[in-house]
Amino acid sequence: MTADGAVAALLEAIPVPCAAFARGDGRLLASNSPYRDAFSGLPGHVHRTRLLAELGDDDHDSGSGGAAPREVHAAHSNRWYALHWGESDAGGEPLSLLTAVDISARIEALDSHRSRQEKLLFTSRLMSVGEMAAMLAHELNQPLAAIVNYLNGSLRLVDQAGGPVQVERALLAARTQAEHAAAVISRVREFIRAREPRRDARDLAQITGTVLELLRLEADRQQLRIELALAPDLPAVYADRVMVEQVLLNLVKNAIEAMREVPAAKRGLRIEGRVNLDGEVEVRVCDRGEGLSAEQGQQLFSPFFTTKSDGLGIGLAICRSIIEYHEGRLFFEPRDGGGSVFGFTLPIADGRG
Ligand SMILES: Nc1ncnc2c1ncn2[C@@H]1O[C@H](COP(=O)(O)OP(=O)(O)O)[C@@H](O)[C@H]1O
Ligand SMILES: [Mg+2]
Repeated sequence: MTADGAVAALLEAIPVPCAAFARGDGRLLASNSPYRDAFSGLPGHVHRTRLLAELGDDDHDSGSGGAAPREVHAAHSNRWYALHWGESDAGGEPLSLLTAVDISARIEALDSHRSRQEKLLFTSRLMSVGEMAAMLAHELNQPLAAIVNYLNGSLRLVDQAGGPVQVERALLAARTQAEHAAAVISRVREFIRAREPRRDARDLAQITGTVLELLRLEADRQQLRIELALAPDLPAVYADRVMVEQVLLNLVKNAIEAMREVPAAKRGLRIEGRVNLDGEVEVRVCDRGEGLSAEQGQQLFSPFFTTKSDGLGIGLAICRSIIEYHEGRLFFEPRDGGGSVFGFTLPIADGRG
């Protein structure tokens, strides 16, 4: 058997795409059948530099032995590969050995994770905008109605006094403007009301699963283990899935943030789910953070209350309006042994949805 033949036989025993190129001129010396299945669709697969150019790996000159694998996208097959390079002199002439590991599944998982996270963040921004618009609309409506009333009163007085006509004209113009502003606000209110959420029978395990997956990276970074304790046979809740995900995400994020200063060994985050005495599903997010003073507990749910330098203070306000929309209750209590419990209730679907 020639040296090349021996290399080819060796490569054939490897179940992932492998190829040997001459280190000198880069021509393909031997390959296994997974390699040919994966890359023979590329005209350049018989030459190292051309192959890499066709895979869009511009850094092909440094890609030898020891370097981190390079991730490339093979457009012809729409698959992703990690290219590992090694060197060998076993073939009689110096070889560059390529192993191409198919990483498409991982890339796809990452992509869907990312786009889901983006969607959720997007909803959260939408909600804060909606929440603020609702508040503004509410706050401005009263004074505007009062302004229109005062203007009407003034117009009557001017009318009784028989002028001056310039004042009457100015008052009429002011009233037109105020009425215009009120019309804009009522359109905003209609728009907010029009964003009807969709409630269905939803599995809490699925909702917590999504949220935990979204927070896994952050939890890992903080060396935090999130314990999930859902009662077995938990009935489905009647809820808008994305909105409840949003609430849980906010609560768990707050819990993680509350433990930023707590030593890793003392941190503990537990999500519980069970049916409570009122026959509702109750979810509790329990942390081992600093907890809250009674005074803070009072203001907790009001918009813009925050104790964080980078906080917005609208997370809990949004959570509360979402949960109340669901005919549930958002609550806070101190946790036995230190920390806080933030929880909410949701009605059981019970045939609805
Ligand atoms: N798990 C928790 N432990 C301690 N304090 C909390 C917790 N969750 C919320 N808080 C307090 O409630 C405040 C408001 O929370 P939130 O509405 O989410 O706004 P933000 O997180 O932007 O500050 C926080 O700044 C914090 O003081
Ligand atoms: Mg928050």
